[in-house]
Amino acid sequence: MAGQIPQRFIDDLLGRVDVVEVVGERVQLKKAGRNFSGLCPFHQEKTPSFTVSADKQFYHCFGCGAHGNALRFLMEYDKLPFPEAVEQLAGRLGLDVPREGADDPRAQQREKKRKEGVNLLEVAASFYRERLKMQEGQSAQRYLQGRGLSPEVIDTYGIGYAPGGWEALKQHLSAKGIGEPVQVEYGLLIHREDTGRTYDRFRDRVMFPIRDLRGRTLGFGGRVMGDEQPKYLNSPETPVFHKGRELYGLYEARQASSKLEQLVMVEGYMDVVALAQFGIHNAVATLGTATTEDHLSRLFRLVSRVVFCFDGDRAGRQAASRALETALPQMIDGREARFLFLPDGDDPDSLVRREGSEAFQDRVTCAMPLSEFLFEQAAQGRDLNTVEGRERFATQVLEALNKVPEGMLKSLLLESLAKRSGLAQSQLQALLDRRTADAAAKALPQWGPVEEPAAEMVPEQALPRSAARGRRQGARLQTLSTVSRIVQLLLHEPCLVTSLPESLDWLPENSEEAPLCRALIELLRAGRYRSPQVVLAHFQGSHEGQVLAELAQRELLIPKGAREAELSGLVEHLVEKQRKRSPQEEYDALLALERSGQKLDKAQRQRLASLMMELIQRI
Ligand code: UTP
Ligand code: MN
Repeated sequence: MAGQIPQRFIDDLLGRVDVVEVVGERVQLKKAGRNFSGLCPFHQEKTPSFTVSADKQFYHCFGCGAHGNALRFLMEYDKLPFPEAVEQLAGRLGLDVPREGADDPRAQQREKKRKEGVNLLEVAASFYRERLKMQEGQSAQRYLQGRGLSPEVIDTYGIGYAPGGWEALKQHLSAKGIGEPVQVEYGLLIHREDTGRTYDRFRDRVMFPIRDLRGRTLGFGGRVMGDEQPKYLNSPETPVFHKGRELYGLYEARQASSKLEQLVMVEGYMDVVALAQFGIHNAVATLGTATTEDHLSRLFRLVSRVVFCFDGDRAGRQAASRALETALPQMIDGREARFLFLPDGDDPDSLVRREGSEAFQDRVTCAMPLSEFLFEQAAQGRDLNTVEGRERFATQVLEALNKVPEGMLKSLLLESLAKRSGLAQSQLQALLDRRTADAAAKALPQWGPVEEPAAEMVPEQALPRSAARGRRQGARLQTLSTVSRIVQLLLHEPCLVTSLPESLDWLPENSEEAPLCRALIELLRAGRYRSPQVVLAHFQGSHEGQVLAELAQRELLIPKGAREAELSGLVEHLVEKQRKRSPQEEYDALLALERSGQKLDKAQRQRLASLMMELIQRI
């Protein structure tokens, strides 16, 4: 059994290979100052925004955000699984890849558990497939036939059947020596707390396996064959399955064509499968959730054009406008998004059956460009014959434009907006610049008054009622970021420091105010300072002193009795946020910190490296 590759070895390897060399063998690079640059291999572009740094041993694309080290590059570019990318790199240096495990029982245990999880889902998928072919799967066979699916499509998508009864899968897996806890962990078995009983999650359902890009099963969607509820049951969040990230049909679409150029985003499992039945192999579906940024950035890494399909009704239009919002920040040059609205009452499944694949393809080809949908949305309910109507229309488009990265689309939209609104392009550009400047000022971490984001950072439920009221009053003046507010509370009421949790892990690393907050807490804990004046005196003359002085001058706006509750509400909120933070978010935060020019300490650098490994392994 191959064990895990020791972290030491990977670190050592990355220290010895040169990312410029690895990338340079696959992408034409030109030296540009201390770095190298070239056309990004991960998205289509005409001017180079891809850089490789020999110093940092990183590549980064300013266009699409792709970044990583030599290992990640190999994984993404050569589409290699992690261990194979390591093998490749090691091979260049003539090294053998060591595996830990033989003598370390803990590593062995970890490896066993990981394998068990992956294996378990594959075993379950093949169990469902086999059951579909057996006597007990006949009703499901009839159901699928009734929905017009051929045996080939059923096979391509690995569709199966979960038998009725309570323990069919459980018994099958247990007989193979797979423990119940891991079956529960991977969402196949439900464990009832009250009775302590366990039983199959999916019973008497048609099963759709959800696979990752390499075809490994991550989870399932199961459809009832009658009218019971819920119609579709999905795997819960598990160590490998995250609903807001996965897309049904992506693996199959990639298998069907090695040169995918466009993907069609539909709503349901059946839509994907029905389109495939009609020869349209490039449809993918979210798993009953709205389209997330994560979804879109994955799609745009693979193709340059995405067509969103929506129902023609109000709910469909609403979903489309949410998708538009999510797409805007991703629309760098070379990418295209379109919106296809289906006739009322139809979904892609019913439509392709009625009209046939050619007519459906025509609809896809003629789908509304993003710009048109944007203008249509902004014009809705407004009379563009009036000055006021046109102004509102322009404002809404400008708001959207603000989110679009610099490039062709933005210029075209601006030009078109000038035509449609009758406002001069220079005037619009000035308005847009002002908005961009405002947004940049808002985004910059700054001391003292920080605008609205703070209100979003601390949901009011996290605060006691009086504090929430205070905040609303405060918000009208100027809202502080969460950490600034904590600093302010501690400054006004130094004794509150005793109510804070012992560890300061909750302080967000990427918050500009965190170092001051930490310093203040340590100072107060040391115990000598008990009044705001003495604290201010301590920091006098420094930048921190200035910041504190400003905070001291601002009223707290809540009564004395409510302050402790507010403080613990804020800290709890940060603790919760920290807990919920995904590795990706933590990684992004650390990377942003590093990019802002701040030096990371050793622990942070190690964390960054291990997060990267974790993320790479998930790809
Ligand atoms: P729809 O209700 O539109 O179903 O749900 P559908 O795709 O047309 O399916 P058929 O044709 O009736 O079989 C769209 C998607 O929303 C999610 C599923 O991902 C589904 O494919 N969904 C729907 C759920 O997750 N649970 C549900 O109970 C219903
Ligand atoms: Mn349907």
